Amino acid sequence: MSFAPEHQPQLEILPTIDAVADRAADLIAQAIAAPDAVLGVATGRTPLPIYARLRQRAANGMGTAHLRAFALDEYCGVAPDHQASYRGFLEREFFGPIGLPADRWQVPDGLTVDATAETSRYETAIRAAGGIGLQLLGVGRNGHIGFNEPGSAFDSLTRAVDLTEDTREANAGDFPPGEVTARQALTMGIGTILRAKRLLMVVTGPAKARVLAAMLEGPVTAAVPATAIRLHPDAIVLVDSEAAAQLTRARA
Ligand code: GLP
Repeated sequence: MSFAPEHQPQLEILPTIDAVADRAADLIAQAIAAPDAVLGVATGRTPLPIYARLRQRAANGMGTAHLRAFALDEYCGVAPDHQASYRGFLEREFFGPIGLPADRWQVPDGLTVDATAETSRYETAIRAAGGIGLQLLGVGRNGHIGFNEPGSAFDSLTRAVDLTEDTREANAGDFPPGEVTARQALTMGIGTILRAKRLLMVVTGPAKARVLAAMLEGPVTAAVPATAIRLHPDAIVLVDSEAAAQLTRARA
C-alpha cells in the first residue's frame, strides 16, 4: 500500500487536562465562528471538559445557529435513549445545551436494518454539507479513531465495522453492568476523516501515553489507525503532560 507524503502534526503539550480543554474549546469556537461551519464531533471521556466549555460559551452568547455537525460513529443496535448511545451522549453533552436544532446535526443511525444504505447516506450528507471543516478526534487505547479498528484501510469510508475485544472491554463502562456490549458500530472511515479540512486530536491521561508515542513516533501503519493523521497537512494534536510521558523525541 502506498501512502501520501507524511506531515508533521502540530503538537502542543500542555500542563493539564484543563489547559488542553481550554485550548481545544478556543480552536473549536474559532471554527464555529465561520459562517458555513461544519464540525465533526467525537464521543468518549476525553472531550467532556471541552463540551463543558463550549456549553458555557454558548450560554454566554456564542452563536451556533449556522452550525452543522456530524458525529464520528455510533454503536449498532443501540437505541438513542440507551445509556451507551452516542446520539444520546452528544444530544445531552453538546447539541441540546447549545441549542442546535435536530436538523443541523447527524449521527449514523445505529438501529438501521440496512447499514450499507445508511453509511452511504451519511457519507453523502457530509459531502452535501460541503465537507467537514474541523474534525475533533480522540484515540482509543488500541489506536482506533472513530471506530476504525487496527487494520482499517486509510481510504476507508463510513461503514459498519466489527469492534475488537479490546475495544469492547475498554468501552464496557458505556453499557449497564452485565449487559452484552455492542459487537459492531457504524463509523466514519479513515478516508472520511482525512477529508476534513483540519483535524484536532485530543489525547489526555497516562493510559494514552503508549498509544500517543506510537501515533507520533512509530511507523505510519494501518495497525495503528491514529497514525493516519500524519497523512493530513493540517492536524493539531493537543496533549497533557501525562499523555506525553512516553514521547522520546526532542520537541522544539
Ligand atoms: C470510543 C470512540 C472514539 C474515542 C474513544 C476513546 O471508542 N469511538 O471516538 O476516541 O472511545 O474514548 P475516551 O476518550 O473515553 O478514552
